[in-house]
Amino acid sequence: MRLISVLLLAATASFAQDADPDNAGGATVSERYIGNAEAVSAGQEQYELVCSSCHGVTGEGGRGPSLQTGLNARASGDELFHTIKNGIPGSGMPPSPLEEETVWQITAFVWSLSAPAIRQNVEGNVEAGEALFYGSGGCTDCHMIRGNGGYIGPDLSNLGVTRSVAQIRESLLDPNERFTEGFDPVILTLKDGTAIRGVAKNHSNYAIQVLGRDGRLYLLNRADVTLEFRESSWMPANYSERLSEAEIQNLLAFLSRQSVRPVETAEGGNLQ
Ligand code: HEC
Ligand code: HEC
Repeated sequence: MRLISVLLLAATASFAQDADPDNAGGATVSERYIGNAEAVSAGQEQYELVCSSCHGVTGEGGRGPSLQTGLNARASGDELFHTIKNGIPGSGMPPSPLEEETVWQITAFVWSLSAPAIRQNVEGNVEAGEALFYGSGGCTDCHMIRGNGGYIGPDLSNLGVTRSVAQIRESLLDPNERFTEGFDPVILTLKDGTAIRGVAKNHSNYAIQVLGRDGRLYLLNRADVTLEFRESSWMPANYSERLSEAEIQNLLAFLSRQSVRPVETAEGGNLQ
């Protein structure tokens, strides 16, 4: 199925290339807009005017679904363009009577909402973000990047590849909104009254595996412990107050570039 759609896309792409007289660099139409910072920012303005009433100002969803999650897994740039231009007949999603160029700009913006952060060229001072991460931010008390740091939070070495900018921003500023899988905060109380604070790695009706804030891994019978799942993450929820806008942006710039493999292009480019 995936192979077929890739082949079809390749066929449409080469057709678009032949038919497009302004095609200087040999890029497809989709490649010229997707990942292009100017197109994304022009698209954002149009999006706010035309789409935000249903999909939310940041694409968080409302009358229409969230545009921040899952889109890339399902749609190529051309498919997204098609949906935005033609709407979804018989649903609440209307067609756009806008010029093709404007629709492409909006497509670029919508794509950017759920694209991996590393493809986004996030603004900010990467070195300052790194210094904050390893220094006064205290992030390495709990998080590791390439073997350096703590265990109680997720390893962030590949964060730019696995998360979008919107997701990283949310984790940083609103960590209680959702927990990363395998990091549900718990407090276990043993029969002798000892409390263990940590994150639940695995649990069944009979057994639970918890990584404690002390760095130890506990494997216990459910019958031997009292278990309390907490509503709030061990991650501090006050970074939006503790850090300035510029510091947050620098951290985002640093975090969004974390990848375990070298990346060929940070600008998007090839979508498949
Ligand atoms: C009147 C409300 C409304 C407006 C305005 C609107 N949408 Fe939608 N949109 C929806 C609804 C409802 C759906 C879900 C349709 C369905 O699949 O049933 C949807 C679906 C979509 C999808 C598919 C989402 C997915 O998960 O597959 C995309 C992409 C999208 N809209 C983008 C846009 C963009 C970009 C604009 C502005 C040009 C826009 N929409 C304007 C209501 C709206
Ligand atoms: C006291 C421990 C602690 C500190 C300090 C901390 N975090 Fe976290 N962080 C966690 C835990 C636990 C989670 C997983 C649960 C959750 O999603 O909130 C997490 C989740 C995250 C995630 C989401 C990871 C993913 O898989 O998507 C990011 C990003 C993140 N933290 C960044 C940071 C940054 C940047 C700092 C420093 C400014 C920081 N954290 C400081 C404990 C911490």
